Amino acid sequence: MSALNINGRDHTVDTDPGTPILWVLRDTLGMSGTKFGCGAAQCGACTVHLDGEAIRSCVTPLSAAEGRKITTIEAATDGTDRVGAAVHAAWIKNDVAQCGYCQSGQIMSATAFLKSLPRGKQPAAAEIDSAMEGNICRCGTYARIRAAVADAARALA
Ligand code: FES
Ligand code: FES
Repeated sequence: MSALNINGRDHTVDTDPGTPILWVLRDTLGMSGTKFGCGAAQCGACTVHLDGEAIRSCVTPLSAAEGRKITTIEAATDGTDRVGAAVHAAWIKNDVAQCGYCQSGQIMSATAFLKSLPRGKQPAAAEIDSAMEGNICRCGTYARIRAAVADAARALA
């Protein structure tokens, strides 16, 4: 049995501790907002936060989450998190998503990035690109992602 804290709620799962967190979220707990892309830490579709840090849940075992806090897209964009709410609003304003498949991972990476900045700091475009470079978008929404992250940073200043 593994005890997990996901989005502020405690869960106990009877799953092999070596199972990637992604499959515990999606298959065991039915939280399908986190997506499977490559399964090899190369695309960012599966990004969640572990104690606030953006991680690739497809290659992070369940055992790594024991005693730590997992945050997924379901909580990051439910309006209860100031930074997540700003990112969500900026995504809508900039009409970022195309097919949408990569977008929960993009939002999780953007949220972790903005939380890592000193309050009020406005990141340069190159800093945004660097922070987001691990998240691939096959639809090529990169310019809108960059604009949305900058908008969110302004909203949070
Ligand atoms: S599915 Fe995890 S990085 Fe691609
Ligand atoms: S919006 Fe389609 S893959 Fe990014």
